[in-house]
Amino acid sequence: MNIKIPHVIIDCDPGADDFFALLWALGLHKKKTIRILAITTTGGNVGAEITYQNALRACEFLGVIDVPVGKSDIIVKSPDASHIHGADGLWNASKYLPKVKIPKISLSSDALLETVIKKHPETQILTFWPLTNIARLLKKDIHPTRIIMMGGAVRVPGNVTPVAEFNIAYDPESADAVFTNANHTVLLPLDVTSQLIFTRHEMNTILSDLKGKKAKFLEALTLHTFKTNMAFRETAGMEWFLVHDASVIAMLIYPHLFRGQFLPVRVETKWELTRGQTVTDLRNVAQPNTHTFVVTDVDRDRFMESMVQDFLNFL
Ligand code: RIB
Ligand code: CA
Repeated sequence: MNIKIPHVIIDCDPGADDFFALLWALGLHKKKTIRILAITTTGGNVGAEITYQNALRACEFLGVIDVPVGKSDIIVKSPDASHIHGADGLWNASKYLPKVKIPKISLSSDALLETVIKKHPETQILTFWPLTNIARLLKKDIHPTRIIMMGGAVRVPGNVTPVAEFNIAYDPESADAVFTNANHTVLLPLDVTSQLIFTRHEMNTILSDLKGKKAKFLEALTLHTFKTNMAFRETAGMEWFLVHDASVIAMLIYPHLFRGQFLPVRVETKWELTRGQTVTDLRNVAQPNTHTFVVTDVDRDRFMESMVQDFLNFL
C-alpha cells in the first residue's frame, strides 16, 4: 500500500525563524517525506521583494529546483519587523550565500495558491506569517484540506502588544476571516511556540558536520537571532531563540509531540488596545465554529531531537 505523503504549500515571510522552518521543510521534500507543491511569500517580517528572494535563497541553499516560488503584490499597511530581522531579513547573514538567482518571470503567490489547490485538492497549507494570502483564497471559495498556522496568543501575552502576536496583529481582518471561514485549521500560538527553545547546543549539533559558507551562514543567522530574542526579552536573559515557525513543520509530520483542544477562535479587529487579539471561548456552551484545533503543549526535547536529526540528515 503506497502511503500518500503530505502535499503542501508553504506560505511564509522569511525572516530568520521562517528560514529555519523553510529549510526543514525543503530538506524533508528532498528526502521525499513531504512534497512541497509551491512556496508563496508576501511582505511581513520584511518587504515582499526580500521575503521572495529569501525563499529562493532557501531553495538554492539545499539545491531544490522543483518547487515554484510565488511573490505577492499585496501591500498590507502594517509596520514590518525589519528592525528584528535586519534589512535582508536574515540579519545580513546572506553575505555568506551566493547572489540569489531571480527567475525572469516571477510567479504570483495568489495565482500559485489558486492553481495548485484546484489541481491538488489534497493540499495542506503551512503558514507562518500573516494570513493575507489565505483570506484572499478563501474569499474565492477555494479551500485547502487543512491549514496549519503559527500565530496568536490564547492564554499567554502577545509579543507585539500586550494581547496580540505579530502574524495576527499584522493583518487581523484576514486572520478573523480565516478562523471564520476555513474548514479545518490547526493553530500553533505563542502558548506552545514559547516552549520551543533553541540553544547553542542544538546549533552546535546541527553545525557539527557542516563546513564552509553554509556553516558560516547558519551560524551568523543563529547568533543574531539569539541576540534579537534576548533584546526582546523573550529568553529570561539566556542565549536562545524561539523556533516559532518550525512548530508548523513538526505538527505536520510529528503530531504526536503536541497536545491541544478544539476551540472557537475569532480575532479582535476594532479596538485600539485589543486589535489583533485571538479570542477563544472556554465556556461550556454550544460553539458555532469548532474547526480550529488550538495546540497548547509540546514535548520540547523530542521536538528538538526530531528537528536536529532531520537537519543532520539533509544538510
Ligand atoms: O510572532 C512570531 C511570528 O512572527 C513568527 O512567524 C515570526 O517569523 C514572525 O513572523
Ligand atoms: Ca514568520
